[in-house]
Amino acid sequence: MGGVEDVEPVSIERIIFLGPPGAGKGTQAGRLAAERRIVRVSTGDMLRDAIAEGTPVGRQAAPHIDKGDLVPDDLLIDMVGERIRQSDCANGYILDGFPRTLRQAQGLEAMGGGPPSGFLVFDVEVPREELLKRLSGRRWCPTCQSTYHVDKNPPTRAGLCNLDSTPLIQREDDKKVAVARRLAEYDERTKPLIGYYRDRSRFHTIDGYRPADVVFGDLVTILEAGR
Ligand code: AP5
Repeated sequence: MGGVEDVEPVSIERIIFLGPPGAGKGTQAGRLAAERRIVRVSTGDMLRDAIAEGTPVGRQAAPHIDKGDLVPDDLLIDMVGERIRQSDCANGYILDGFPRTLRQAQGLEAMGGGPPSGFLVFDVEVPREELLKRLSGRRWCPTCQSTYHVDKNPPTRAGLCNLDSTPLIQREDDKKVAVARRLAEYDERTKPLIGYYRDRSRFHTIDGYRPADVVFGDLVTILEAGR
């Protein structure tokens, strides 16, 4: 008794969220992480934390983020590699916002993430007009990084975070010029990853232009079916 043969195999779930800015990746990844107890690795949140703390990574990333440009690949590959090698990621993780370029996708394998075939990939699709509405109406808590929307997901008390009452702000990169740049970067550099993962991973296109609860229901169904 108690030998290796008695131990239940651990299901290691590694998930990637693809999709344009504002598609709801963060909303869905956050909920999946909380309800399924999987570590969420959000590169946007990690970079914003680094900027708030004034670290060398934050100082390098800030000008790129504020303009809506992607941050250089090497910096992201080092940052994510270090994160997924930590012990809390041993049983899986959700990548929210990474990879975003072909070089990052290849880097993920090299850093120990394993081949694309080991990943469940959700590509969340939303029409462009709706993305613009979501990003212009998004409000953000600089303390806990919760996101809201002025119409679609307003906080209980206007302008204040539900969790810690911090005054909500608009992200610098949610202003009009930066949003246009982020969408162009997505089209040019991230969209090609759809073809890359469609052929190599357990790939699912998700219609993100539906209420968040409905979208979440689809994700859970796919996860539970082990597809
Ligand atoms: P990041 O923070 O990852 O930004 P993003 O990909 O542009 O994603 P967003 O956070 O804008 O949108 P989302 O899809 O998560 O949508 P959300 O759930 O918030 O990255 C920021 C920057 O960091 C990048 O521009 C880049 O400079 C840099 N960076 C990060 N990773 C990088 C990488 N790997 N390489 C290089 N640079 C990198 O939802 C949006 C809004 O819609 C919210 O208000 C929400 O409440 C609302 N909403 C969500 N779902 C629904 C729904 N179903 N119906 C109605 N409203 C909804």
